[in-house]
Amino acid sequence: MTEVDLDVHRSAEDITAALRADVREGLSADQKWLPSKWFYDARGSELFDEITELPEYYPTRSERQILRREAAEIATVTGAHTLVELGSGSSEKTRVLLDALGEHGTLKTFVPLDVSESALSEASNAIAADYPALAVHGVVGDFTEHLGLLPGQQPRLVAFLGGTIGNFLPAERARFLRSVRDVLTDGEWLLLGTDLVKDPNTLVRAYDDAAGVTAEFNRNVLRVLNARLGADFDPAAFEHVSHWDAGAEWIEMRLRARTDMRVRIPGADLEVTFAAGEHVRTEISAKFRPEGVRAELAEAGFGLERWWTDSGGRFGVSLARARR
Ligand code: SAH
Ligand code: AVI
Repeated sequence: MTEVDLDVHRSAEDITAALRADVREGLSADQKWLPSKWFYDARGSELFDEITELPEYYPTRSERQILRREAAEIATVTGAHTLVELGSGSSEKTRVLLDALGEHGTLKTFVPLDVSESALSEASNAIAADYPALAVHGVVGDFTEHLGLLPGQQPRLVAFLGGTIGNFLPAERARFLRSVRDVLTDGEWLLLGTDLVKDPNTLVRAYDDAAGVTAEFNRNVLRVLNARLGADFDPAAFEHVSHWDAGAEWIEMRLRARTDMRVRIPGADLEVTFAAGEHVRTEISAKFRPEGVRAELAEAGFGLERWWTDSGGRFGVSLARARR
């Protein structure tokens, strides 16, 4: 069996403490919200993988098409010795990059980082088994907190795929991009996947599939609160909502209370009331325009070297270089 190094930066107690703080803040606000990272326990990661196969959910297929077409170019341009993947999940699409960088002959180490320990250890073990020449060094952690601890030999290519950058609010996004720039040395690389603005109907359906998988993914955050904080949410009492905010250019996922409710969350020392129709914002998924991506990268200290879209123009991938 191939060896996999796994660094765990968060104990179960750390995770529960962070969740408690987020729940106290988000569910006490006038307009209730929860951070989307709490979707991803083992079940949430499985549900996300199911989402990526849905006919309505085009981002994964579109990004995979770009990666397949451009992976050899990415390997030649970057000559990366280390591939770091943030929010790596199953790392399924990443295999296209591992293949190309392996063929190019430079890649030595793969560093997937994810908050979901189950997804990370499963992916790390599968990749170590399938790429025996590669050192796999998984990191269980939060990419808003643990970037300073990334192992690996330079030059590094940091991949942030799937459009996960869109799950930050704009100010958090700027902070995050700057933090990635700050851990890189001049000349190192960022490969960034961004979902693009398109017709609202396509977008709304991508987040409200006919089979109801996204609805279950959305309600999973309530199950996480029940499991970790002893809350007594009835997930079925909340309706899944996918809403396009045309001004902000993001999809908002919400959970809307079907009736008046009082929910106890002992682990957060909190009781929350919901009026029928009141909603909790559980995720934003921002959609981008090419000029906006370039500007945000520049603002964070990256120069855009390549920009690719899939044949349908639905998804964009940027290859950017950390500059002085
Ligand atoms: N990159 C994969 C998975 C995207 S799903 C793809 O393109 O398909 C988003 C992933 O980011 C999940 O695996 C989730 O566990 C992880 N994630 C979300 N918030 C995170 C955070 N703050 N820190 C680390 N990982 C996070
Ligand atoms: C992980 N992230 C990019 C997904 C997205 O599309 O914003 C999460 C997701 N939410 C609902 N479906 C998928």
